[in-house]
Amino acid sequence: MSTDSRMTVPSFRRRKGDGPPLVVLTAYDPPTALAAEAAGVDALLVGDSLGNVLLGHADTLPVTLDDMVHHARAVGRARGRALLIIDMPWLSYHITPTESLRNAAQLVRESGADAVKLEGGAKRVPAIRAILDAEIPVMGHLGLTPQSVLPMGGYKVQGRGEERAQALIEDARALEAAGVFSIVLEGIPARVAERITDAVTIPTIGIGAGPDCDGQVLVFHDLLGMLPEQPPKFVRRYARIFDEQVEALRRFCTDVRDRTFPGEEESYR
Ligand code: KIV
Repeated sequence: MSTDSRMTVPSFRRRKGDGPPLVVLTAYDPPTALAAEAAGVDALLVGDSLGNVLLGHADTLPVTLDDMVHHARAVGRARGRALLIIDMPWLSYHITPTESLRNAAQLVRESGADAVKLEGGAKRVPAIRAILDAEIPVMGHLGLTPQSVLPMGGYKVQGRGEERAQALIEDARALEAAGVFSIVLEGIPARVAERITDAVTIPTIGIGAGPDCDGQVLVFHDLLGMLPEQPPKFVRRYARIFDEQVEALRRFCTDVRDRTFPGEEESYR
């Protein structure tokens, strides 16, 4: 692949107010990355949602740097044109700016990613500055930040009421001033996301944040209905892969038990 056709951090950033909304999708391994690339997404996010989606955890807190490196490396091998962003897991950017930088560098070095993403507002600025100082682009993430599930008391819409909306706008401004190239806005009222989008000059990427962001992101498995449970309200399911899988597997079970599989065409002579 020629690197000219690749999405870069500057070209992603320039899409603010220019062209159609940016399309971002999570990817956790080569099959998901290849499908998303074939569909023409603008960016792949190796999200720490892999903790819930792939590893069976109740939330993202148990996800380790090693888990992220493992999946980021695999996605890195399958990447094409899309920008590649890797989530920093919980506690990998909370202790000191130096440690945050070391962890961000490991994620980028092992995966060939273009950027890292981390959650939180103004209090994350020292970590963000250290990472940016080493020339690693950073994406921010505000609102319903899943790594804050314990203090939030669950996955609840954030930014309701003027004071909280204003605090989110201030956080977004602080992240922009620190130098992030884009901000994910998750689980906030559409009107608040619109105000944040108007308040910053970098692209906002919404998930459960209404239609007025500069782009949208969804979790791969939610969009395709690959999990048995009902996805959150903000997800539009474009397929029911879980149900289709179960149906296909049932037919396989029946065929084996009826001795109709393997047939002539699946056997060697
Ligand atoms: O981990 C994740 O998948 C995410 C997004 C969905 C924004 O952070």
